[in-house]
Amino acid sequence: MDVLDAVAKRRAVKQYDPDFQIPEADLAKILDAARMGPTAFNLQNWRFVVVTDPALRKQIRAVAWDQAQVTDASALIVVCADLAAWTKNPARYWQDAPKEVQDLMAGMIDQYYRGREQVQRDEAMRSCGLAAQTLMLTAVSLGYETCPMDGFDFDAVGKLINLPEDHAIGLFVAIGKGSVPPKPRAGSLPKDEVVFTNCFAS
Ligand SMILES: Cc1cc2nc3c(=O)[nH]c(=O)nc-3n(C[C@H](O)[C@H](O)[C@H](O)COP(=O)(O)O)c2cc1C
Repeated sequence: MDVLDAVAKRRAVKQYDPDFQIPEADLAKILDAARMGPTAFNLQNWRFVVVTDPALRKQIRAVAWDQAQVTDASALIVVCADLAAWTKNPARYWQDAPKEVQDLMAGMIDQYYRGREQVQRDEAMRSCGLAAQTLMLTAVSLGYETCPMDGFDFDAVGKLINLPEDHAIGLFVAIGKGSVPPKPRAGSLPKDEVVFTNCFAS
């Protein structure tokens, strides 16, 4: 499917066929696509928790406003980020580059993130957002429906998935076979309210 078609076709689908199971090969394709996505300094700081255990899904649903997507979509991916990825032997993110480039990048990464907690978190959330969109567009291109979600108790979900101390949850992406088509799009702001040339009006 053309990228533009996937963008146009993607909708937040809320109801799924609970009996449908996404083939493992398709799920792997979707995750591999997300892993090709961009991250600042190539930190690859996203971490994808694919929740397959039905009992755990039920527990997550209970702290996610009882939203049916959590248990009924074939795949539930908790898109997380390692906030401390920048400290963890960063030269390895550049392992296929020459040694001098690895060393240079490791130094730059340390200089950029050290002592800047807000930046560490902002970058992690950027990575999660971009990865989530790649997950969704790839899933749509393979014929599935998706829903991005942040309607849940982040701390409770963190405990349920054993989230490491130095990680954060970005959002969920549910993927499956929709059972009810989405309602028509809710409305789009006028282009001139959201697109600007050069700068905002003064
Ligand atoms: C960060 C984020 C969190 C969202 N959380 C939820 C959610 O918890 N439950 C839900 O049903 N939809 C959720 N949505 C879907 C939005 O409601 C939906 O994307 C929006 O209404 C536009 O509809 P569309 O995606 O079909 O174009 C979320 C979307 C985003 C981007």
